[in-house]
Amino acid sequence: MRIELTEEQKIVRETAREFAKKELLPGVIDRDEQQIFPSEQIKKMGELGFMGMMVDPKYNGGGMDTISYVLAMEEISKIDASAGVVMSVNNSLVCWGLEKYGTEEQKDKYLKRLASGEIIGAFCLSEPEAGSDATSQRTTAEDKGDHYLVNGTKNWITNGNSASVYIVFAQTDPELKHNGINALIIEKESEGFVIGRKENKLGIRGSDTHSLMFSDVKVPKENRLGEEGFGFKLAMKILNGGRIGIASQALGIASGSLDASINYSKERKAFGKTISQHQAIQFKLAEMATQIDAARLLCFQAAFLKDQKKDYTKEAAMAKYFASEIAMKCANEAIQIHGGYGYVKEYHVERFLRDAKITQIYEGTTEIQKIVISRELLIH
Ligand code: CAA
Repeated sequence: MRIELTEEQKIVRETAREFAKKELLPGVIDRDEQQIFPSEQIKKMGELGFMGMMVDPKYNGGGMDTISYVLAMEEISKIDASAGVVMSVNNSLVCWGLEKYGTEEQKDKYLKRLASGEIIGAFCLSEPEAGSDATSQRTTAEDKGDHYLVNGTKNWITNGNSASVYIVFAQTDPELKHNGINALIIEKESEGFVIGRKENKLGIRGSDTHSLMFSDVKVPKENRLGEEGFGFKLAMKILNGGRIGIASQALGIASGSLDASINYSKERKAFGKTISQHQAIQFKLAEMATQIDAARLLCFQAAFLKDQKKDYTKEAAMAKYFASEIAMKCANEAIQIHGGYGYVKEYHVERFLRDAKITQIYEGTTEIQKIVISRELLIH
């Protein structure tokens, strides 16, 4: 067994690192405070191939592997976790589903523009009364022969207003329960589709999160993604990959917290020496670094299995569960190391803590990850 990155993977990591420092760091505090979506930066990420990293180049994707995706997600999220989630949703929840289950027409019409970053997409599963309990979809997609008529509300949708294309899950046949759910591609301009309130969030404030309302929205049958009634399983399969993306985002927040802590501890003096010379700080850094390496290896494991076309359900859930826990721990310790400076905006670490929290919630809470992991342990 060799744990060594290829030259190509090293280049991806370096490119993402340089981009994040040059393009995402300037203005990141303002974007967070004023909830400004990083439009220009996302466009440039598209030009670098980061918005459709694993998509086949014939659909304008980067043709890269999932390990490269983990590396790029970590570097981007280290500096700006808001840009990280926009990237993760577009790559994992939108492009991957379209490439894997879309028709050639859908790929031609939507995937090519999504993978190049020309437009971005959103994944609409959560509802006011269907978060963790995702089978309880209240949004309906009535079968009208050549089209579906969609009615309902979606909540907490990442890229809610900035997206152009939405993958929406809706119940067509309630008697079939989760086997009656369809996944539909809905365009922003569709009549009856209204973008609702923008959420005023604790963290990842540079990303836009909205509720969405559908009122008699006509969706042609050719816009169904996957077979009739396959929507819920498709959502689950998509989320397995999404969890690698969010795990990598959490990993980035954790390693950003460590970097900031190392730098600060070498500058700040207390009791006649730098605080890095105090064992209390050294032990904190050692613990953070160990947890971060463990989280990165879990992300690599899930990514490796995905690239090998093996089942990675459990491993992705483990990576997401563990990385999100250590993102919280590392961001919290980073504030402690920074003391009073850590509690104010300029040193970034208070933002890291606010950004870290959502990684324990979206794309399946920590508790849902534990359900997924334990089910896999007990079934196999
Ligand atoms: N991979 C593949 N298939 C899966 C799966 C998985 N991880 N989880 C469930 N399935 C399949 C099951 O095998 C089952 O198939 P059969 O009908 O053939 O038996 C079917 O889906 C139904 O599953 P369950 O019977 O297990 O359903 P459940 O209601 O007991 O539990 C759950 C399902 C795991 C709790 C699921 O509802 C879940 O993952 N909930 C969390 C939802 C979530 O992650 N939401 C995130 C929203 S998107 C988001 O956050 C994006 C963002 O903003 C960044």
